Amino acid sequence: MKLERNDPCWCGSGKKYKKCHADFDEKIERFRRQGCEVPPHEIIKTPEQIEGIRESCKINIAILDHVAQHIHAGMSTEEINQLVHNKTIELGGIPAPLDYEGFPKSVCTSINDQVCHGIPDESVILQEGDIINVDVSTIYKGYFSDSSRMFCIGEVSPEAKRLVEVAKECIEKGLEQVKPWGFLGDMGQAVHEHALANGCSVVEEIGGHGVGLEFHEEPFVSYVSHRGEEMLMVPGMVFTIEPMVNAGSPDVVMMEGDDWIVYTADGSLSAQWEVTVLVTEDGYEILAY
Ligand code: MF3
Ligand code: CO
Repeated sequence: MKLERNDPCWCGSGKKYKKCHADFDEKIERFRRQGCEVPPHEIIKTPEQIEGIRESCKINIAILDHVAQHIHAGMSTEEINQLVHNKTIELGGIPAPLDYEGFPKSVCTSINDQVCHGIPDESVILQEGDIINVDVSTIYKGYFSDSSRMFCIGEVSPEAKRLVEVAKECIEKGLEQVKPWGFLGDMGQAVHEHALANGCSVVEEIGGHGVGLEFHEEPFVSYVSHRGEEMLMVPGMVFTIEPMVNAGSPDVVMMEGDDWIVYTADGSLSAQWEVTVLVTEDGYEILAY
């Protein structure tokens, strides 16, 4: 149904459409007519929703800070799960991974050649030299946040250390490209180029996603995409940047009988950082990291 210019705006501001998002919609429509992929209204967040997502993201950050303080060699990944679970509840949140499509734990812990969706386990003990991604996602007052960090356990090899750094730099390179009226492909290409320039590869099959009102929303966010392609970025979009960077080949595998854990096909190390980012009027705001 088409909004009339004097109708209340779809964004919930209470203002008339013509005084609120009418010009914005027209601009998006011009891109659509040129054949660009454009965001539907459902994924453009209102100021009230952004505030809710921001609060959820603050909790996500606090949980990761808590992990950072306590992670150490000799602990199991199940202990990380308990740290995350208990902290989330203490802060009034709900761990989004728990029971999500059957996921059995409150956090993903992906160690060494595990690319993502690692399942915390009592028998997986952190050893000096390991690198591990801890991926935390929180529901707070109905709003979703999602971010992850890498941790190096004690002294790690120079190669592992560099991979972890490159994966983090990829996020920074990607963020530089996040601005309204650009394309997600601008960001994806910047991420990919940085990984390749450092002798690493980027996983193609798994990517980021819109987030905020649901755990995983449109769009799928690729990091092997091309400048000027993929969805148009507009103010109010919230999505994750979370490239999985491999030291060897970009190919990934799963083991029979396991629905979740993704590994590098060649057994090489993999690293990933993740931010939740908001597209603003003049660039971006990191909501969770
Ligand atoms: N946090 C992951 C992401 O970045 C999603 C994990 S789904 C789960 O999208 F069920 F494994 F938690
Ligand atoms: Co995510």
